[in-house]
Amino acid sequence: MTLKTKDILTLGELTADEFNDLLKTTIKMKENRNSTLQSKPLQNKTLAMIFQKPSTRTRISFEVGMYQLGGYALNLASSEMQLDRGETIEDTARTLSRYVDCIMARVYDHESIQRLAKHSTVPVINGLSNSFHPCQTLADFTTILEHKGSLQDLRIAWVGDGNNVCNSLIYGAALSEATIYVATPKEYQPISSAVQYANNHTEIHLTSNAAEAAKNADVVVTDTFKSIHDADGARMAKLFPKYQVNDSLMSLAKDDAIFLHCLPATRGSEVTSSVIDGPRSVVWDEAENRLHSQKTLLLRLLTD
Ligand code: CP
Ligand code: NVA
Repeated sequence: MTLKTKDILTLGELTADEFNDLLKTTIKMKENRNSTLQSKPLQNKTLAMIFQKPSTRTRISFEVGMYQLGGYALNLASSEMQLDRGETIEDTARTLSRYVDCIMARVYDHESIQRLAKHSTVPVINGLSNSFHPCQTLADFTTILEHKGSLQDLRIAWVGDGNNVCNSLIYGAALSEATIYVATPKEYQPISSAVQYANNHTEIHLTSNAAEAAKNADVVVTDTFKSIHDADGARMAKLFPKYQVNDSLMSLAKDDAIFLHCLPATRGSEVTSSVIDGPRSVVWDEAENRLHSQKTLLLRLLTD
């Protein structure tokens, strides 16, 4: 299924059919990974990867993914580009569009990726902004589908900071029509545009009570309490202890509930070792699925 959108900035660009097809295709591609390796469908295609922030999974999975598909990825720290000396995002977009077939960027302000997309003639993928992390959500829902067999009638619980990963997970829930409970301190609720989007597509419940969210959940998800862009670490440290995912919280979820975390994790902070390293944790499948889901996305954006 060819995507109608040129860019992936939030996931709101996708139809529900496109989103669900991406997940199913990713699972098939993962099963048949050796045949794609041989056919090299992105031969002669190039991906520019711009990083304003550090990354392990995003950078490596995109680079390895492009290599496995027969293409080439350029790793570009913005500090080593003219961008950080004041060249505009618009001029960077116009220049890169003359060289490469696709741009993935990890930025601070979400507006930066919007400007990059607006002025690029090639597809632009958001590799994390302060507001959204759509590639993570593609991997997360692939992982949920893989482990649960279906996304029908699932209850997903987010517990912790209403951050970029949470905002995108809400889009994923809306596109798959899963019910989502989001437990955050009142000061750190998810972005209103994501909540509004979900309200139009599925059932979303915002609460400040972690137990209410975790109760009867099929999937429990959290992330760091201090994202790369967060400045107010001390304030957050006071507010967040009630939102730790530990054995007691997981005991409220269904017996076969799974635990997801985008990583990197701080054990003893947002999650205990007993949970993230325990039998219900699927975080390594989730990390691996970044590779497979992004390969599917690249193929959809760069081939007919
Ligand atoms: N989950 C994720 O995006 O990890 P990185 O910050 O290591 O890319
Ligand atoms: N919320 C985290 C996600 C990192 C993958 C951050 O923005 O730093």
